[in-house]
Amino acid sequence: MSIFLDSGDLNEIRRFHKMGIIRGVTTNPTILLKDDVRGDLDGIRQHFIKIAQMINPYPLSAEVTSNDKDKMIEQARDIVKWADNMIVKIPIHGPNGELENLEVVHELEKKHRVRINVTAMMSAQQCYLAASAGATYVSIFGGRVNNMGYNTIGEIKILRKLLDDFDLPSKIIMGSTREILNVVEWLHAGAHIVTVLPKFLEGMIVHPYSKETVKMFLDDAEKGKGT
Ligand code: E4P
Repeated sequence: MSIFLDSGDLNEIRRFHKMGIIRGVTTNPTILLKDDVRGDLDGIRQHFIKIAQMINPYPLSAEVTSNDKDKMIEQARDIVKWADNMIVKIPIHGPNGELENLEVVHELEKKHRVRINVTAMMSAQQCYLAASAGATYVSIFGGRVNNMGYNTIGEIKILRKLLDDFDLPSKIIMGSTREILNVVEWLHAGAHIVTVLPKFLEGMIVHPYSKETVKMFLDDAEKGKGT
């Protein structure tokens, strides 16, 4: 079980990678826009190469920016040339429920040996089919599931059992963290990975009572020097 960082910010990735606590990085077009990483795939290539080199051999997910079947395959095959540890994110279906995406996933994994992270999923049943199509990673957006009034923990438990019972090697990535507690509760429910926003990772480390305790140690060390 491990933690990925859900960020395109080079400084944040460096900060947590240097602590040795992350095992991968995920991005999506919205995260890149927020982190001011702009440009078409050619434009963002160098930024991704820097991240990929920094975290190597851990995986780095970059998402396709088209919903056209041929274009998705072309972009995916391009992205994996950037570095050995590149993973390509493909949404479960198109914006209007177009169904070609799983065919794209299957072709990329089986014919072109491209490792795929199927993204934007909200249920165990979507993930089960993506895993059946051969996806290396299946991503559920836990925060969005909870926001809609569904039970993320229940979906994780069902999905993990299905993957284990049917010997499907896909790894579950839980994304869309909304609070610090999501990380351990989703891992505990059976997720292989939670991809965490930098602010929540920091929040997992820092505790007010730890601050107070460390301050007490340092103050008493000073006082001890004076005797
Ligand atoms: C992870 O892979 C997802 O892209 C991400 O966590 C989505 O989060 P959001 O629901 O905050 O957009």
